[in-house]
Amino acid sequence: MRAACYVRRVIKVDHHSSLLSVRGVKKRFGPITALRGVDLDVAPGEVHCLLGQNGAGKSTLIKVLAGVHSPDEGELLWHGEAADIDGPQSAIDLGIATMYQELDVVDGLTIAENVFLGHELDRGGLTRRADQAAKTREILERLGHGSMSPHTEVGSLSAAEKQIVSMARALSHDIELIIMDEPSAVLDTEEVDNLFRVVHELTSQGIAVIYITHRLAEIRTIGDRITVLKDGASTASNLSVADTPTDVLIQHMTGREVLNVFPTRPGVPSGAPVLLDVDSLSLDDEFDDVSFRVRAGEIVGLAGLVGSGRSEIIETVYGARKATSGTVTAHGKKLPRGSVTAAIAAGLGLSPEERKSQGLILGDPIYKNVTLSSFQDIARSGWLDERAERRATDEQIDALELRPADSTRAAGTLSGGNQQKILLARWLVHGSSILLLDEPTRGVDVGARAEIYALIRRLADAGNAVVVISSEIEEVLGLADTVLVIGDGQLLTTVDSSEIDEHGVLDLVMKGTAA
Ligand SMILES: Nc1ncnc2c1ncn2[C@@H]1O[C@H](COP(=O)(O)OP(=O)(O)OP(=O)(O)O)[C@@H](O)[C@H]1O
Ligand SMILES: [Mg+2]
Repeated sequence: MRAACYVRRVIKVDHHSSLLSVRGVKKRFGPITALRGVDLDVAPGEVHCLLGQNGAGKSTLIKVLAGVHSPDEGELLWHGEAADIDGPQSAIDLGIATMYQELDVVDGLTIAENVFLGHELDRGGLTRRADQAAKTREILERLGHGSMSPHTEVGSLSAAEKQIVSMARALSHDIELIIMDEPSAVLDTEEVDNLFRVVHELTSQGIAVIYITHRLAEIRTIGDRITVLKDGASTASNLSVADTPTDVLIQHMTGREVLNVFPTRPGVPSGAPVLLDVDSLSLDDEFDDVSFRVRAGEIVGLAGLVGSGRSEIIETVYGARKATSGTVTAHGKKLPRGSVTAAIAAGLGLSPEERKSQGLILGDPIYKNVTLSSFQDIARSGWLDERAERRATDEQIDALELRPADSTRAAGTLSGGNQQKILLARWLVHGSSILLLDEPTRGVDVGARAEIYALIRRLADAGNAVVVISSEIEEVLGLADTVLVIGDGQLLTTVDSSEIDEHGVLDLVMKGTAA
């Protein structure tokens, strides 16, 4: 089902009929220059890909277009005429809708309330609510999610489902341009196919899309033209997707050549001790009878679709959810069910899937976020030694190439990919020997990705046990020694990663979910 993709449309971009033109846009945040001169041209009906490393300025640029930030310099032209986007409403009035990188749906409201937030249909009370629900249902169906109810509260949805709500909200407006900031980061293969179908439908109606992604393979499927940002400036504009090889794109983004290869697997030494032993673990309504072992030096990868139970399994191993039955043994010691404290004391560390709600305190400096779970180690004689915290953090900033390399910066001001690195750094500082990493490269750029792969491999080679979840099957297969394929809360198979390929995994997953 996924092999079938779309025949690329050969679009003739008429430069005289540019929908949106950005000229020399600059934006500073206090001492930080986020944009130092950006040009961008978007034609009607095209998919214009915006590429750049973490911190290059992509999200800042789209927030300027969405009216969230006002630029310090530069101009915006809409249909060839100067446009003043002085707030989110004026962007929407022009016909620009935005899906933000950090999903901004409101948990306490229903799907329909979120979709119509700020532009409620003007009719009183009950009729309005019924109308909004009906309209929302229509949009959800168009998005291929007719089974989602408009009345469901958004707080109970997964990240992928929230993404769909965010897209539904964008489509509830009358738009000519939709901006998608890393929409695929929270989606699995099947959902990405669905997203591409929607993008295709939009562009065939003449709606333009600005598409941001770190997965370069995606732009081959849906992109028409590319603009590359580097250090806040556009370094290449209007490249044609068809004529620009990936290594050239990477050159533009990084200024160097990056070989995105997975590190070699030395093989788990025979006789390596089992550090983590999960036996018949079950959690009612989530997953059933899952058993696996991870030895020192081994990377075990969990593959499966979003919602298959992968995250629930490792959260239960970690004690954040209380298992209904089964046992988790770490370093030979059986862990009490549902106790994170006991898990951490036994050497477990979890880097969660959703950094915003589960991981980071955005207002706190980087070093406080990094040392969050290890303050017992760092605190000497009862008070927190801030210098020790910073020293430990600085080592990890170097190792992970965190940018900016300033541990006093508030975590929330960092780019998405760099926030991900803070979460990894946390467990490295803590010295966990059993690392559970849920989507460790989500939103991470090509350069940093290769570094994170190498880093995870080094951690395993140093004798740690690592469990990795990734929605990118290629990543699981490239990184892990052993692959567990999960479908619908069941462990479908445990296999040496050299003995299975992407199709094999997908086949299993599809059969598993259909059953
Ligand atoms: N509100 C803010 N205050 C201070 N600095 C900011 C703010 N927003 C962004 N920045 C800085 O501006 C630069 C560009 O960030 P931006 O989020 O636009 O990057 P990005 O290209 O979207 O990266 P990623 O791929 O990681 O999402 C970074 O150095 C970031 O730290
Ligand atoms: Mg961004």
